[in-house]
Amino acid sequence: MSLLFYENSTRTRLSFESAIRALGGTPQSLAISSSSVQKGETLSDTALNLLALGASGFIIRHPSPGASLQLAHSLRNPAVPIINAGDGSHAHPTQALLDAATLLQSWGLSAEKELPLQGKTILILGDIRHSRVARSNLELLPRLGAQVLISGPGSLLPSALELAAFPGVQSHSFPDRLLREVDAVMVLRLQLERQESGFIPSLAEYRHFWGLTQERAQLLREDAWILHPGPANPGVEIDLEVMSSRRSKILDQVRMGVATRKAVLSWAWAPGSET
Ligand code: CP
Repeated sequence: MSLLFYENSTRTRLSFESAIRALGGTPQSLAISSSSVQKGETLSDTALNLLALGASGFIIRHPSPGASLQLAHSLRNPAVPIINAGDGSHAHPTQALLDAATLLQSWGLSAEKELPLQGKTILILGDIRHSRVARSNLELLPRLGAQVLISGPGSLLPSALELAAFPGVQSHSFPDRLLREVDAVMVLRLQLERQESGFIPSLAEYRHFWGLTQERAQLLREDAWILHPGPANPGVEIDLEVMSSRRSKILDQVRMGVATRKAVLSWAWAPGSET
């Protein structure tokens, strides 16, 4: 499998590499910064050349929303699996799958049930607007039966038009009341580059109102879990002490990444799967 990572990654790339090796395959990571992409080679030409060099499928992370779908349309070869490892602010499907798997495991729930997360309320907190992790979770978690709430600064919430695509998802400006009630909170990375674009007045104000500080984490129920997809900005959207607290599932999410990606790769190679 060729890994085409046009954006940086630690967790996703390394867990896909581990998963491929565990399944008996060979991961081949193209170093984009020293490749002919820098000379202007297109995504589809790059992929065609890697196929000629022996690749049999692609795992792609790209800053452009829809890049993996575009590659699938360019290649038009259902025998070549293409897995989206994050495309712009659009989607990060394997992250949402590993988040759901972490929650199921933490609650001892079976994935065999039709709606295994029914009765659970999950708050997604922070920069929803620019988050592919949020979008994939807004699609997946309600399908598993969960009630999903979102909270963040107005400038970092999805528009009403976009939210209409996720029926049942409730949007709230401030999180404190919600934190007392939810079964889990998923904190998102504040994309610091957004601050310069005027999305938030200051990091200090963001932390004051939306950061999962030690004080704010005490609002959570004793049995509520804390998730974060990583990488985090400790001291901004979440405190270091909260990240390493008893209720934090952050490193369990990372561990679950390998198992989840093994499952996705096995599915992608199963007879009858489509790219
Ligand atoms: N959660 C996530 O996608 O992390 P990386 O960017 O390190 O892969």
